[in-house]
Amino acid sequence: MKNILKAGIAGVSGYTGKEALSILLKHPRVRVTYVAANNTRGRVDGIYPEFLGRTDLVCQKFNIVQAVQHCDVVFLALPHTESMRVAGKLLKAGVKVIDLSADYRLKSTRVYGRWYGRQHADVQNVAKAVYGLPELFRQKIKTAALVANPGCYPTAAILGLAPLVTAKTSSIISVVVDAKSGVSGAGRKASLDLLSSEVNENFKAYKVLAHQHTPEIDQVLSKLAGKKMAVHFVAHLLPINRGILNTMYVHLKEGITLGQLRALYKKFYKTEPFVRILPSGGQPEVKNVANTNFCDIGLAVSADGKMAVITSAIDNLVKGAAGQAVQNMNIMCGFTENQGLL
Ligand SMILES: NC(=O)c1ccc[n+]([C@@H]2O[C@H](COP(=O)([O-])OP(=O)(O)OC[C@H]3O[C@@H](n4cnc5c(N)ncnc54)[C@H](OP(=O)(O)O)[C@@H]3O)[C@@H](O)[C@H]2O)c1
Repeated sequence: MKNILKAGIAGVSGYTGKEALSILLKHPRVRVTYVAANNTRGRVDGIYPEFLGRTDLVCQKFNIVQAVQHCDVVFLALPHTESMRVAGKLLKAGVKVIDLSADYRLKSTRVYGRWYGRQHADVQNVAKAVYGLPELFRQKIKTAALVANPGCYPTAAILGLAPLVTAKTSSIISVVVDAKSGVSGAGRKASLDLLSSEVNENFKAYKVLAHQHTPEIDQVLSKLAGKKMAVHFVAHLLPINRGILNTMYVHLKEGITLGQLRALYKKFYKTEPFVRILPSGGQPEVKNVANTNFCDIGLAVSADGKMAVITSAIDNLVKGAAGQAVQNMNIMCGFTENQGLL
């Protein structure tokens, strides 16, 4: 019999934790052995009746000793500033950690402090964490003990921009990321702004040029470009439950044809199981990626070739969170990368 990986989920009562459980229950190489939260307790099928008949797991108050005892790998689906209090202890006990929060994504703890309003509590492990975007960092993920799972907006933005930024670094004048997300992107906690009566039949920008995902996108694009990149990022709230659509405007010094752009993207993602470059003229739609781990990308170029418009769509809870986390787990554990995800 094949070895079965014992997985735990901290934050199972939240949206990404629930999504991780849903995926892992169907994974042929995994047994979910531990689920926990903060205040939410009781049978998972009581918290989320859709799990009736699928699991007998009971959600407990998160406890490190229990997590270590029961798990080979733990998914931390916790709010930022919570993960950094526990990840180090799990790692020390030999448990692999996949953190869905922002705590280990930014390499500069000074930048983290500025954007997340708290001094980092686990500087040592920030250096060791691998940014878990498989399409760019697969080799490093293979041997990582701690993976910083990317943010939802950054996943869609970086996958949409990476081929162009890598190939045409010196030609880029500016990058605008016009991002829109469904409401589940903000998590399950109660908030006046997220009431159905506030969100439904509404559409608005928020945290304009001040969203905490900006430094994460800049960090990765700068790494690809080999020089400092700074995108102009604006987030919007869509009146839908799940899904992200990013429209990215890249102003270029030298023109590019649509044929050249398409060839660039097709080559870059040739062997990627979860990135789909749409046929010429095709545009991504959130409904086509909902409940999947795919990122769909559409390409267009202005008549003078100096404005490339790239659109990308993902499900924020799957490729933007739990699906990508399982993709990372598959890579870290030597499983087939798409196992449990198709
Ligand atoms: N939502 C998305 O689309 C998305 C996408 C990518 C990344 N992320 C990131 O993933 C993380 C989780 O997001 P989410 O949307 O799933 O959040 P959420 O729905 O608000 O859920 C948060 C979970 O964390 C638990 N929790 C809070 N403090 C805890 C503590 N001290 N110990 C143990 N458990 C604790 C909560 O338990 P209780 O129910 O007991 O309070 C709940 O289960 C966040 O850092 C978020 O930024 C979210």
